[in-house]
Amino acid sequence: MVQDSSPVAHADTRIFYAVHKTFRLGTNRFVDASAKLPPSVLRPVIGSNWSFYRAVLDHHHHTEDEEIYPALMAVRPDLDVLLKTLGEEHLELADAVDTATAAVTAFEQEPDAAHQKAMHEAIVAVRDTFFPHLDVEDAQVVPAIAESMPPREWDRLDKQALKTIPRKHLATAVGALDEVIRSLPDQERPPPPPPPIRLMLALSWRRKWEARMKPLLVETPGADSAGS
Ligand SMILES: [Fe+2]
Ligand SMILES: [Fe+2]
Repeated sequence: MVQDSSPVAHADTRIFYAVHKTFRLGTNRFVDASAKLPPSVLRPVIGSNWSFYRAVLDHHHHTEDEEIYPALMAVRPDLDVLLKTLGEEHLELADAVDTATAAVTAFEQEPDAAHQKAMHEAIVAVRDTFFPHLDVEDAQVVPAIAESMPPREWDRLDKQALKTIPRKHLATAVGALDEVIRSLPDQERPPPPPPPIRLMLALSWRRKWEARMKPLLVETPGADSAGS
């Protein structure tokens, strides 16, 4: 039998799925933090965390619009309408994110209850636009990739997505993803990242991510604050 270097018969979508889960967790944390934390705690941390979230979400959508959707369309032309709709939703979501960014900036300038409420409502609007979109991608796009995309092509796109994360956000993005991946059951957990990334996670990125998240977590009595 000829040895195939591709380890799986189907495209392995576990990282893509984990990325979606990571966005869900991050969005929920902003919703909770903006509702429940006092302005004095929120103000020093909300701006930098929101701008990270905005940058990686923008990267995710560009990757889908420019690489993943066209590659999927090439093998699944029947998904034309679905993928066009999802692409249009990226634009709607970008508008909601811009509105929330303005609300975050306004809160940083005047951290009172009214600005916090406006910021919270704008972040809720992001979640309410984003999550139905993620639901459709998880239910229809992820299985279509697994069924129809050549595994090596998908592997190349997966690696490219990692490589094109803006350099200054790489450590934080990998830390965020690592938290979610470690919480997944074995069968949903993707293979480990390349050795240099694994090493950086163990040496510093994991700890930095935990420290970065700590002030944003809303403690729920009797529950694990990492939540999902
Ligand atoms: Fe997505
Ligand atoms: Fe998307």
